[in-house]
Amino acid sequence: MQDDSLDEADVAAAWDRNADLWAEEVRAGFDVFREHFTLPAFLAFLPEIAGREVIDLGCGEGSNTRRFAECGARVTGIDLSAGQIARARAVEEGAPLGIRYEACSFSQMGFFADDSFDVALSTMALMDGPDFAAAMRETHRVLRPGGGLWFSILHPCFNTRHSRWIPSRQTPKKARQVVGYFDRQPFVERWHFSKRAAPTDVEDFTVPRFPRTVSDYVNALCAAGLRITAMEEPQPSEAAVRAHPWLRRWRRHAALVLHIAAVKG
Ligand SMILES: C[S@@+](CC[C@H](N)C(=O)[O-])C[C@H]1O[C@@H](n2cnc3c(N)ncnc32)[C@H](O)[C@@H]1O
Repeated sequence: MQDDSLDEADVAAAWDRNADLWAEEVRAGFDVFREHFTLPAFLAFLPEIAGREVIDLGCGEGSNTRRFAECGARVTGIDLSAGQIARARAVEEGAPLGIRYEACSFSQMGFFADDSFDVALSTMALMDGPDFAAAMRETHRVLRPGGGLWFSILHPCFNTRHSRWIPSRQTPKKARQVVGYFDRQPFVERWHFSKRAAPTDVEDFTVPRFPRTVSDYVNALCAAGLRITAMEEPQPSEAAVRAHPWLRRWRRHAALVLHIAAVKG
C-alpha cells in the first residue's frame, strides 16, 4: 500500500482484511475505549432517535449500529468494506433488529434518494475516508430538511501521525506530544487493541488515515450547507477513570475524540 496515493480502494481492501479480527475482538469487548468511554459518551451526545429514519455512516461490523436500532430507530448501516458489511448482515440474520446494510461509500451514496433520512450518525469512521467534503455533500443530500448529523472522529488536534505520550512531572505522569498537526499526508497506521493478549502472533489492524485540521472539518460542513449546532470534546467520567486508571490521561491532558452535530437548514 503506497501511503502517498491512498484511495477508497485501499481503504476497502484494508478493512476487508481487518474484518474477521475486528469483528471478533470488538464483540469480545477488547475495544476498551468503546466500552468504557467513547460509546457511552456518543450515546449521551445523541438526541432521541426512537422512531427516526437513521443512517450509520461507516458502520463497520455493526456493533454500534445495533445499539442505535435498540434505541428504537429504523437503521440503515453503510460501509465501504464488503467484508465488514457481510459480518454485520450475518448478525442481523441471526438476531434481526430490522437493520438494512449496504456496502457503499459515505462519499458516494447513490443507493439512497435525496431526503431519505431524519438522522445521520457516524462513530469513529469519517476520519478514515479520503473525501470528507464529498461525504458532507452526500450527507446533506440524503438528509431531509431539518434532519441532523451527529458524528465522532479521533480528535484531529491530539491524534496526529507522530503524536505520543511522553513522561511528565504532571499527574498522571504523562504529557501528550503533538507533532505535525498541519501535515495532511495520508498514511497507514498499524495498531491493535491494548487488551489483546501479548505477545501475539495475530496481525495488527491496518488502517489508512487521512489527516485533517479542525478547520478542514468545519469548513467542509459549512460548504455542504450543514449548520453546526454543537461540538463536544468528551472526557472519560471520574467513575470510568477510577475503574480504569489508564484513562485518566485522556481526562486530564488531551481529548481523544471530537463530537460534532449539524443540521440541514
Ligand atoms: C474504525 S472503523 C469504525 C466502525 C464503526 N463505526 C464502529 O464504531 O465500530 C471505520 C470504518 O469506516 C469505514 N470507512 C472508511 N471509509 C469509508 C467510506 N468512504 N465510506 C464508508 N465507510 C468507510 C471502514 O471500512 C471501517 O469499517
